[in-house]
Amino acid sequence: MQEFRVLKGHDIEGYSSLSVYREHGGYEALRKALEDMTPTEITDEVYWSGLRGRGGAGFSTGQKWRFVDRDAPGQKYVVVNADEGEPGTFKDRYIMEHVPHRMLEGTLIACHAVGATKAYIYLRGELSACRDLIQQCIDEAREAGLVGEKVMGADFDVDVVLHLGAGAYICGEETALLDSLEGRRAEPRLKPPFPAQAGLYGRPTVVNNVETLANVPPIVEHGAGWYRSVGAPSPAVDAEERGSGPPPGFGPDSPGTRVFSTSGKLGNPGIYEVPMGIPMSDLLELSGGMRDGLKLKAVIPGGSSAPMIGPDHFDVPLTFQDLADAGSMLGSGAVIFIDDQTCLVDAALNLTEFYEHESCGKCTPCREGSQWVRKVLQRICDGEATAKDLDLVRHICDGIAGKCFCALGESIPAPIISTMDLYPDEWRYHVEHGECPIGKGDLAHAE
Ligand SMILES: Cc1cc2nc3c(=O)[nH]c(=O)nc-3n(C[C@H](O)[C@H](O)[C@H](O)COP(=O)(O)O)c2cc1C
Repeated sequence: MQEFRVLKGHDIEGYSSLSVYREHGGYEALRKALEDMTPTEITDEVYWSGLRGRGGAGFSTGQKWRFVDRDAPGQKYVVVNADEGEPGTFKDRYIMEHVPHRMLEGTLIACHAVGATKAYIYLRGELSACRDLIQQCIDEAREAGLVGEKVMGADFDVDVVLHLGAGAYICGEETALLDSLEGRRAEPRLKPPFPAQAGLYGRPTVVNNVETLANVPPIVEHGAGWYRSVGAPSPAVDAEERGSGPPPGFGPDSPGTRVFSTSGKLGNPGIYEVPMGIPMSDLLELSGGMRDGLKLKAVIPGGSSAPMIGPDHFDVPLTFQDLADAGSMLGSGAVIFIDDQTCLVDAALNLTEFYEHESCGKCTPCREGSQWVRKVLQRICDGEATAKDLDLVRHICDGIAGKCFCALGESIPAPIISTMDLYPDEWRYHVEHGECPIGKGDLAHAE
């Protein structure tokens, strides 16, 4: 069921070294991009592949690159978002530890495509194993003439710099990341302008996720058609000549594979690269199913910012559109399977504590709302709440949703409201009995 494209070679001894990566065809996509394609052709190929961003929002990568005016004078940048701090998400770490040169090769191709001569890799500070490895990859690549002046003898100069974050979740938000790179306190910027127009130091900048960029070398090597041969590409896009039908990489178009990180009380939680569109239940099976006879109760399908889904959607095809239709999102590809012995009110409190801690404080609904709702949730978990507190929770969440500066704040209500809607009896039991119903009868069922 697995299909290794991003992770191809991950099981080969020494694949993270330049020599072994090149023995297996590494950097041939960069050579092709430099020798056989124009920058516009590269961007077009990525656009027509329908590749969508793997950092969370799922925006068309080719479209993002097209926003950069490559021929405008002055500095342009590519920034690799390797901050990976979304709870449940650990696929970028795996990619960087096992196939780091694929990410670097994709970054170099992206630089050439958009006319950038400098790339920054913004790495989450805690990922110490990645830190040394990525630096080693950059050094090896520089030594081999893949980074620096006249890359592979072509008219292309590029420098790559590794920058360590300090472990703040907000630094993953692309504009806060740019502020952090510039040496400021990380706070999200008002958009527009988007980074492609005015990003790092006010210059045109492409910010892409690690997995997104690791998809680029195989697309350049094998073409957009090959990329769309697996996954859940929209037939409407493929039925038309290029340019005459709906745009690729939007709406129902979910071609290619996805690197999922699965967690929960599973037989075999971990990293799985599978074609987009497989049913979520297949991913659960791949992950060894629920452990110790536990039953599946709810799923967070796309990192902690994604609303939980219940039994009605356990077979949902893993595409951007299907998850949106199910009231959630594919997000960062982190699928957290929650068992029937887990208290969802406690889970909601746990995630709210995370958001409260990580709120940058710039906007009031996120800063104040996260503290306030956390206090009420704590009261519910401690058995000190009344039925009115359930209304209060909804009221506070109402004051947060749609009113925050960035998606961090928007994520706060996600686990709370989705579980209140899925399992209202479980919430009611807490306030009526002053304790958790788990293990006390058959209350934990979805309505
Ligand atoms: C609070 C917050 C944290 C984020 N963290 C990450 C992250 O760690 N890695 C990432 O690639 N995108 C993260 N994103 C999404 C980025 O803002 C951005 O959409 C992404 O890097 C774009 O790359 P892509 O188009 O390749 O997905 C985060 C967004 C928010 C609001």
